[in-house]
Amino acid sequence: MSYQFYRILHVAAIILLFTSLGTLAALAGAREARLRRIAAVAHGLALTVVLVAGFGLLARLGMFGAIPNWAWLKLGIWLALALVVLPLKRAPQWAPWLWALLPVAGTAAAWLAITKPF
Ligand code: HEM
Repeated sequence: MSYQFYRILHVAAIILLFTSLGTLAALAGAREARLRRIAAVAHGLALTVVLVAGFGLLARLGMFGAIPNWAWLKLGIWLALALVVLPLKRAPQWAPWLWALLPVAGTAAAWLAITKPF
């Protein structure tokens, strides 16, 4: 698979990831919500594809052998975006704060890939 293919796959999965996280944040604490199940499945699927395409990109860039520090940091952001569903479920009163932090985390991940600062 080509570099361009992995780029589009990575970005498409990121769009799905933030769509699903926005939905899960908006529905935090709601008792009955039809969209929650779809958003939860989409969240898992998007995380998987972001990761696979991310490593595909690293391989195409010849960085798979020695993964650079910015990519490790992106893995940390990826993990945070995976685990954020736990406080959304158990502490829905934090949902507005977590919702506000989502674009900050996404922007940080984009910045790391685009500038590769370290
Ligand atoms: C959910 C968290 C993530 C977000 C929001 C994110 C976001 C982005 C964005 C916006 C780009 C630029 C796309 C482009 O213009 O080509 C990008 C590229 C990239 N990402 Fe991610 N990413 C995430 C996770 C990861 C992970 C886990 C890895 C792998 C460890 C990874 C590795 C890369 C690589 C290698 C590039 C290509 C850089 C280049 O083309 O020079 N990303 N990411």
